[in-house]
Amino acid sequence: MNDVSGKNVLITGAARGIGYAFARAFIKNGATVMIADCDIDRAEQSAIELGKHCFATHVDVAEQVSIDQAIKHTIDTMGHIDVLINNAAVFTAAPIIEIDRADYDRCFAINVAGTLFMLQAVAKHMIDRGCGGKIINMASQAGRRGESLVGVYCASKASVISLTQSAGLNLIKHGIHVNAIAPGVVDGEHWDGVDALFAKYEYKPLGQKKREVGEAVPYGRMGTAEDLVGMALFLASKASDYVVAQTYNVDGGNWMS
Ligand SMILES: NC(=O)c1ccc[n+]([C@@H]2O[C@H](COP(=O)([O-])OP(=O)(O)OC[C@H]3O[C@@H](n4cnc5c(N)ncnc54)[C@H](O)[C@@H]3O)[C@@H](O)[C@H]2O)c1
Repeated sequence: MNDVSGKNVLITGAARGIGYAFARAFIKNGATVMIADCDIDRAEQSAIELGKHCFATHVDVAEQVSIDQAIKHTIDTMGHIDVLINNAAVFTAAPIIEIDRADYDRCFAINVAGTLFMLQAVAKHMIDRGCGGKIINMASQAGRRGESLVGVYCASKASVISLTQSAGLNLIKHGIHVNAIAPGVVDGEHWDGVDALFAKYEYKPLGQKKREVGEAVPYGRMGTAEDLVGMALFLASKASDYVVAQTYNVDGGNWMS
């Protein structure tokens, strides 16, 4: 049902973490994957690990020139793009009165503008090709409501949910499906960074915040990148053709809406 064999898939931020797990799962299911990441050394290493159906290209999703180059390289390499997963993002945390303007600009340039202008560039390609496509944005439970220390990141992910709705409604007439996944707390290098920021602002020993958020998940533990793979395959496949402009929570029961 969730068949993605033969599909060409572009995944941003897939050098590591959730994007890497997506790349591995799509290849295992017969797709060809381009990893696009600002960490080109790690992206190339990841592509080597994943085998001959995986390629790597540099992209800084905050820069339009870089987006255009990465998409050209992807089309030159794979021929066309059937699926885009807008996964690259950065996390930031600070009390409201300590939020730094440059940090805000960087977070919104990557998480919001990066998502929008990657989506726009790939949508133009899909419209020119006339075959439709699937676009999956990575939102977050942080986009569902604000959090005390996470104002900027929460606002950026709320923007991703809103952009998913607008783009989904605007592009479905071209057969382009735009949907999003909202993970909860997913263990990995990303959360090591989050944990360190909470250690700083909540005066907790390293590792304590991670334990707390894991224990609070109704399912009983933090998520893993693998826990998100099923939803990504579904949203990339024909099985989700009647799904438009939605954001799905995949968070062990943390959030309901
Ligand atoms: N891990 C979680 O708990 C969690 C929870 C909710 C949502 N998410 C979202 O899921 C997605 C993946 O998260 P993750 O945990 O794998 O994160 P991660 O930090 O492990 O990986 C992010 C990747 O994006 C790349 N990247 C960063 N800035 C970039 C840029 N400007 N251009 C291109 N690539 C860039 C990094 O090099 C890295 O490979 C993100 O959108 C994140 O916000 C994660």
